[in-house]
Amino acid sequence: MAYDVHVGNAAKQYCLAWVERYAQAAARPIRLLDLGCGAARYAVELLTRCPNVTFVGIEPLARDAEQARQNLRHFDATIVQGYAYAAIHPQLPYESYDIVLSFSVLEHVYERLAYLRFVYDCLSEDGFCLMNYDAGHFHSTHWKERAKTVIGGFLARLGNQAYYQAFVREADFKRWVQQAGLTIREAKMFNTSLKGIYKIIPEAHKQAYLERWLELELWLNELGITYQDAYSKAWGTRNYILQRAKPVDNAHMS
Ligand SMILES: C[S@@+](CC[C@H](N)C(=O)[O-])C[C@H]1O[C@@H](n2cnc3c(N)ncnc32)[C@H](O)[C@@H]1O
Repeated sequence: MAYDVHVGNAAKQYCLAWVERYAQAAARPIRLLDLGCGAARYAVELLTRCPNVTFVGIEPLARDAEQARQNLRHFDATIVQGYAYAAIHPQLPYESYDIVLSFSVLEHVYERLAYLRFVYDCLSEDGFCLMNYDAGHFHSTHWKERAKTVIGGFLARLGNQAYYQAFVREADFKRWVQQAGLTIREAKMFNTSLKGIYKIIPEAHKQAYLERWLELELWLNELGITYQDAYSKAWGTRNYILQRAKPVDNAHMS
């Protein structure tokens, strides 16, 4: 069954269903770390369906971190306030995690290689990172969105990362993944312009719409289309499943 209407995003739908299958198949306690969890509303349904999942969220914004604590108060959940870089690791309740989530965060991250290195450090040896990031902000013609990108970059250089956003180029991402010691297990693209229609679907039909929409997006991913930056106007979200690279993954580099 599709996830709660708050998700409203085919990439997150896909990832949450993936994590649910993983947790249910594992039938053992699972540690999940959500980087930039925001208010973590989507986690309520996941944790209800998967009581074996322990949730740890990292969120820099105090207001969102507090909202996440409230939203997850009935679950085994800890929210740590701060940026997802190495310095926060000692504050986390566990050193490594079976699942690391990063939903719509990387495009707002100022130090991207450091962030991916942190993903590496937090993943257990066989753990999975489900990471997606969006391009919508960067194709907007609205002056406010364009101004945010310019002003956010300027403020970040002065030491305030809170408003940073910049397009994630495919080639850069692949280079950072490799430099961080990670490897790509799966790459998909999601959120065609059908995302806009989701907003105007009557409430009673939103669940059915989400299911059909996800089915269509998964079919599109099977057509052998090689993603490139220019396609980010058609598919608003890039979605990856990453793992720690094993020696064999790196063998071709030596
Ligand atoms: C668009 S929101 C996504 C929130 C949530 N993951 C979701 O999908 O609803 C982006 C979040 O990333 C957080 N963020 C930005 N830079 C970050 C960083 N370096 N480490 C962790 N979180 C960060 C922001 O504070 C914000 O809550």
